[in-house]
Amino acid sequence: MLKTHNCGELRAANTGQSVTLAGWVHRRRDHGGLIFIDLRDKEGITQVVFNPEISGDAHSIATELRNEYVLQVKGEVSKRPSGTENSKLPTGEIEILAKAIQIYNSSKTPPFYINEEVDVDENLLLKYRYLHLRRSGMRDNMILRHKVIKFMRDFLDVRGFVEVETPILIKSTPEGARDYVVPSRLHAGKFYALPQSPQQLKQLLMVAGMEKYYQIARCFRDEDLRADRQPEFTQLDLEMSFVTEEDILSLCEEMFTSLVETLTPDIKLIKPFPRLSYADVISRYGTDKPDIRYGLELKDISSLVSDSEFIVFKSAIQAKGVVKGICLPGCANYTHKQIEELTEIARGLGAKGLISMAWLPDGDDAGDLSTQVKSVATKHLGTAKLKEIFKIFEAQRGDLILIAAGSENIVHKILDELRREMAKRLQLCPSNLMAFLFVTDFPLFEWNEERKGWDSMHHMFTAPFDEDVPLLDSDLSKIRARHYDIVCNGFELSSGSIRIHTRDLQEKIFSILGYSKEEMEDKFGGFLEALEYGAPPHGGIAPGIDRFIMLLTGSKTIRDVIAFPKNQAAIDVMTDAPSHISNLQLDELHLRITEQENQA
Ligand code: AMO
Repeated sequence: MLKTHNCGELRAANTGQSVTLAGWVHRRRDHGGLIFIDLRDKEGITQVVFNPEISGDAHSIATELRNEYVLQVKGEVSKRPSGTENSKLPTGEIEILAKAIQIYNSSKTPPFYINEEVDVDENLLLKYRYLHLRRSGMRDNMILRHKVIKFMRDFLDVRGFVEVETPILIKSTPEGARDYVVPSRLHAGKFYALPQSPQQLKQLLMVAGMEKYYQIARCFRDEDLRADRQPEFTQLDLEMSFVTEEDILSLCEEMFTSLVETLTPDIKLIKPFPRLSYADVISRYGTDKPDIRYGLELKDISSLVSDSEFIVFKSAIQAKGVVKGICLPGCANYTHKQIEELTEIARGLGAKGLISMAWLPDGDDAGDLSTQVKSVATKHLGTAKLKEIFKIFEAQRGDLILIAAGSENIVHKILDELRREMAKRLQLCPSNLMAFLFVTDFPLFEWNEERKGWDSMHHMFTAPFDEDVPLLDSDLSKIRARHYDIVCNGFELSSGSIRIHTRDLQEKIFSILGYSKEEMEDKFGGFLEALEYGAPPHGGIAPGIDRFIMLLTGSKTIRDVIAFPKNQAAIDVMTDAPSHISNLQLDELHLRITEQENQA
């Protein structure tokens, strides 16, 4: 190689050695006679000193150096003079006394600092992604990502899993999002779809007798982007034959536990991973992906206030809604402005308002409770009810209770959001904790009000509980699915299920979802036929790798753990994709553009 050592490895013990290093100028300081360079490569930083008395030539070339020039330096390892060591650098005890230098390439002044983690407009970072990736935080994320994937591969390999690649050009499979499609040149008017996930293919691998399959699978979904969503992302896609839910969940628990403990030992886990049913998480947290690193659980006072004359509660109960809230410890002194900010969040989600009850921290303990409470509801509820409410919320003096009343859906949405917001404001999330949670017993179907029909809650290949199968002919809303999720720190990390493995049941589910016989044949004919050739019972799961690494690294978005992500508008700013194609290409693909995006 063009170097004998990397920039992270030399120590005092190497003093006196002749070495050759190569890398980029991280920082340059000209101290009159001496020029100091922090030379950076993938492994670290080493200080290089150019002294005209050691090499006049090297020193004179070094005067030309600027940040991000790329070069090779030959020199001798020397202990730094006492008092000039840098304890923050692993190589901080030594420096290289340069004898020769070769500049491989100069660099324009980068559009942002590489040697400082200062905030920069994200589109600029994305445009110059290759420079952003030079920053140590990004480099560390990429290296950790590599280690995570290697760990997963090794973990599954010793357990008999086979990694199988599945095609990227496939037939469109309805999985909830829009497909990205690819026009066919050979078959005019026909399109391939990019996989939203290899769902049917991995099931077909079970029919093929593979028994234990995995793949580091790239998935493509045309959906609204968020901090935890990209149009293309990566799953650890898994499928196993002859298994129950327990086999899949315990495999995942073992994998995530050993992975986190091996690769990021500073991160703590809650062990064993708690398990909650869908009904429980919804009632306690208002969401199926709760962050359980902190409490602030939702409490239901609907029955307690069902006979209340307080119009806010009364109208919610009459409309078959709920009255629920959260208790915020030590927040009784929140100002009107602070409460108004929280109420604004609730309004944004469909609330008319929030009822706050502040149990003031100071004053006469022995006095009437109602004198210690600041709330519009006090005069309507009376002291006895107030007491019971505080008991349900396990409130202490000094706490603030926020209550939402209305339809269950909206109340849950509001309280979930307030819970997350308040955990941030009160700094309740320990940064070094990953709180995994298994959620089980999801409903099989959910009602789609727009379409006036039933949708699969997970996907249409998910099996119902055996004992709930008769309900397919009577009450679809009550059927439980053999579907499980892994949630971590408030994000959905994985979904999976035990699958349907017989044609009859699969067809029945398709028809409930609104597919005619012809549509089934057209969309799933081959898959349905495969189920008739001895398809074994099977199930699987697909943890999102980008989301997992985002949580592992404490990153704010998955874009920070993907080498070349798209921006929030699904644009690759660096290469400027998507872009127009030539008329010749359009002709070959039998396409005509009827509408162009405004170029302005
Ligand atoms: P699901 O659609 O729930 O299940 O996806 C599984 C996991 O993939 C990740 N994920 C995403 N990550 C980044 N950007 C996105 N746009 C995105 N969409 C999903 C999440 C999610 O939990 N075939 C089924 C799995 C199965 O049943 O085995 C599936 O894809 O972490």
